[in-house]
Amino acid sequence: MPSPFSAEPTAPLGFDRDPSRSRTLPGHYYFDPGIFEQERRKVFHHSWQYVGHVSMLPEPGSYMTRNILDQSVVLVRDRQSEIRAFFNVCQHRAHQLLKGDGRLAAAAITCPYHAWTYDLAGALRSARGAESIVDFDIETIRLSPVRLAGFLGFLFVNLDGAAPDFETVAGELAAEVAAFSPNAAKLHCAYRHEYPLAANWKNSVENYSECFHCPISHRGLVEGALD
Ligand code: FES
Repeated sequence: MPSPFSAEPTAPLGFDRDPSRSRTLPGHYYFDPGIFEQERRKVFHHSWQYVGHVSMLPEPGSYMTRNILDQSVVLVRDRQSEIRAFFNVCQHRAHQLLKGDGRLAAAAITCPYHAWTYDLAGALRSARGAESIVDFDIETIRLSPVRLAGFLGFLFVNLDGAAPDFETVAGELAAEVAAFSPNAAKLHCAYRHEYPLAANWKNSVENYSECFHCPISHRGLVEGALD
């Protein structure tokens, strides 16, 4: 296997599907608005994004909101205990429906703007002020669903209805995870900490994904693996 540090790049710009042949991307990939626009369309709006764990929605009415870049999504556990995902946008005048995480007091999502109300399956149940609108058919109006996939209790959404399904993308991932963590499906969320990073998102992902720094900075994390 060639050294990841060999002097000669094997592909233009450092791109290579083989991690042992890939290089750090050219600098402008971290600040060029044109690159970021491509990432918005091809990555964030087109791929499966992790949003949370089933244990974070413990009972009917539990909800969480997440931003996939500029798009707000809400996940809610409905009265039959099924988890559903919707764009967090009212069908009336597009007001944001919910903020943060929590539990709904009633089995309904009520828009804070004009109080249109949706049930937890996304159907419009009450449209305040729409009584005088001719041929207004409440039965045809629902929150826009977002594709949702569960993987060992971890929840992923995909904003693109035409993107490959999660199982296709995941491939043999379940077996791979099971080899390292046979009890992964029994995990639950014990603590969540959120903090902003003043950096391009790839800086964080790249540093997390390779572990050259682990024996130095996170020795406790890798002690067993180093033996
Ligand atoms: S924008 Fe939601 S009820 Fe009007």
